[in-house]
Amino acid sequence: MLMYVHLLGTAAGGGFPQWNCNCINCHGLRTGKICARARTQSCVAISGDGCHWFLLNVSPDIREQIASFPALQPPLHARRGTAITGILLTDADLDHSLGLLLLREGTPLHVYATSSIRQTLTSGLNLAPTLQAYSGLCWHEPSCSLAPLLCPDGSATGLLYEAFPVSGHPPRFRERALQQPGDRVGYRFTDEQNGKTLLFLPGLSSFEDIPHHYLYDSHALLLDGTFWSEYEMEEQQVGNTSATQMGHLPVGGPFGSLARLATLPIDHKIYMHINNTNPMLLEDSPEYASVRSAQAEVGWDGLELLL
Ligand code: MLT
Ligand code: MN
Ligand code: ZN
Repeated sequence: MLMYVHLLGTAAGGGFPQWNCNCINCHGLRTGKICARARTQSCVAISGDGCHWFLLNVSPDIREQIASFPALQPPLHARRGTAITGILLTDADLDHSLGLLLLREGTPLHVYATSSIRQTLTSGLNLAPTLQAYSGLCWHEPSCSLAPLLCPDGSATGLLYEAFPVSGHPPRFRERALQQPGDRVGYRFTDEQNGKTLLFLPGLSSFEDIPHHYLYDSHALLLDGTFWSEYEMEEQQVGNTSATQMGHLPVGGPFGSLARLATLPIDHKIYMHINNTNPMLLEDSPEYASVRSAQAEVGWDGLELLL
């Protein structure tokens, strides 16, 4: 079997275009004046057998994302049902978790999240008690060592996984001064049969956080592409928080992620969680060209990998 990876949404919080934004990119896309694609918010589906799918984060655009991808739609033999077997969260950010509330009509959701993420979603959004009144929710503590990613009945799915901590800020609805270990994690997935691996890091502030061998021994990387530059929000006149303050390593510049990415022996290097202000969204921009010339890709909704 192969590992199937389907990018459902590749934009950061707000999507592209963002509902209230007239930055050069959002206005340009709305008026058809730029060469760029619309994008929904950050969410990925993976499967080791083509039948059981795991969502990596669950965006508020999940309804539209399911509609765009038949593999996630109800199986034909059942009156109601889903191929969504589990959900793995990297953090408690709204763009990565609000979709849980939208998946409330079915059977209990199996959600992998650290205790810090669970606490944040419970104290900040009352998420688990709210869902309890509908579908219910089963929390799973993500494994820190290589472990099978199982179906709720304990059967194999063909995938192995492990979680590892990466530094990051808790979401704005939680007191930021109280940073806790486990506020943000990365995941690495392994196909049980062919050994191919996927590194999932939609939020990253520093490469120092990533176990060294993951960077040199992974087949695909989905990486934080939020901002091109440190002061992009200010330069685009849409805010005054810097990339660092928001916990995102910029893509461009001598210390940006692209310079590092260019040196890594990974077959598929793909940016996602791209903010609507990022100039690499414009497919005729020099920033887009520099991503391509580093053998990396600006991820887009619908992009698929078979590993
Ligand atoms: C982030 O990751 O920093 C978010 O996309 C910000 C937001 O949701 O507004
Ligand atoms: Mn986000
Ligand atoms: Zn915008």
